[in-house]
Amino acid sequence: MLFKLTDEQVMIQNMVREFSRKVIAATAAERDKTKEFPADNFKQMGELGLMGMMIPEEYGGEAADTVSYVLALSEIAYSCASTSVVMSVQNSIVCESLNNFGTEEQKQEYLVPLANGEWIGAFALTEPDAGSDPVSQDTLAVKEGDEWVINGTKRFITTGEHSKVVLVTAKTDPSKGHKGISCFIVPKGTPGLIVGHMEDKMGLRASDTTDLIFELLLVSDSLMLGKEGDGFKIAMSGLDSGRIGLAAQSYGVAMAAFDAAVKYAKKRKQFGVAISKHQGIRFQIADMATQIEAAKQLIFSAASLKDRKENFTREASIAKLFASEMVQEVTARAIQMHGGYGFTKDYPVERFYRDARVFTIYEGTSEIQRIVISNQILKDKRKP
Ligand code: CAA
Repeated sequence: MLFKLTDEQVMIQNMVREFSRKVIAATAAERDKTKEFPADNFKQMGELGLMGMMIPEEYGGEAADTVSYVLALSEIAYSCASTSVVMSVQNSIVCESLNNFGTEEQKQEYLVPLANGEWIGAFALTEPDAGSDPVSQDTLAVKEGDEWVINGTKRFITTGEHSKVVLVTAKTDPSKGHKGISCFIVPKGTPGLIVGHMEDKMGLRASDTTDLIFELLLVSDSLMLGKEGDGFKIAMSGLDSGRIGLAAQSYGVAMAAFDAAVKYAKKRKQFGVAISKHQGIRFQIADMATQIEAAKQLIFSAASLKDRKENFTREASIAKLFASEMVQEVTARAIQMHGGYGFTKDYPVERFYRDARVFTIYEGTSEIQRIVISNQILKDKRKP
């Protein structure tokens, strides 16, 4: 292997693998049907230190490196992508944004309970008419004395219902484009914060995705995250980190589909032999393994750049683009290898296929990743 893991990274991977395959996997198929939010699993994940892995210990985290984080996240995704999406948003765009931009008071009050897993957080950027282009958002925050009045609707918010605190972006000066967007910390229970429509999704069904409606919501100036006008920068830098996580989830789901397909190919007999004896199937296995391995190296490369505190925007987008496209193909091939059985709910590959479908869409579509990658290359004049 090109990338050598440290003993500690291997230990974290093994610990999370054991937990994930025993605890998370046990109810994943059932929760896909019932859409039940696995609150108890998140409690256990918090106790294991998985909900604020990269946050310093003084703020309730584990001070783990990004490589350890992607290993842990992919192990959770292997068993249940509905669980890993919550873990991913929590660790990156919620906890890291608070850690990087929060004041000491904000960190003590909000980051500590989030990072130690007591609370789950949400990040509200997307709106009904502002998805790939978040600068066109309509949510408005108007200053009145030492408070802000927020009005607007956010859409597709991961953990919109079950979160305890929401980081929300809003325009504080609509004349300034991206520099006129700010970010606020809004605790749930604040009057004027309404959980709206819950999406009925194709996959990731046990993770709630909702509208969040802000109606004349008052928030103190002390709950602005970063400075006025920092909101877009906070979102973009959080998304850089989130995109590595999304790539790791893609890897985890792809590995689950791959293992299921190989197991099936060894067991299923046609034309008198296990189908794994047929070259057509063997070539599928080889192609899947090659794609998965390539994604893994891109993920490690982006994660280790981040750990070295170098700019990783381009590498995060490359890993997200490649891994999220890879998992579409790997899960589709896994179904193909299962034949008719792959199309039924008796085998897990149909859930993997549905769960993975959104990976080329959320936290920036594949098309947005191509914009980010080409912008970075043309800006830096760096060769790939
Ligand atoms: N880190 C920090 N700052 C960044 C940045 C980054 N990665 N990328 C850009 N910026 C800054 C730039 O430096 C620039 O600031 P200055 O003017 O001060 O120099 C500013 O942001 C604007 O940059 P660009 O001109 O490059 O921005 P743009 O408007 O042309 O396009 C985009 C940016 C890449 C298209 C961006 O809008 C984007 O990523 N869109 C997709 C949004 C997205 O991923 N949405 C998903 C939402 S969250 C989700 O899915 C689920 C969930 O629950 C979390």
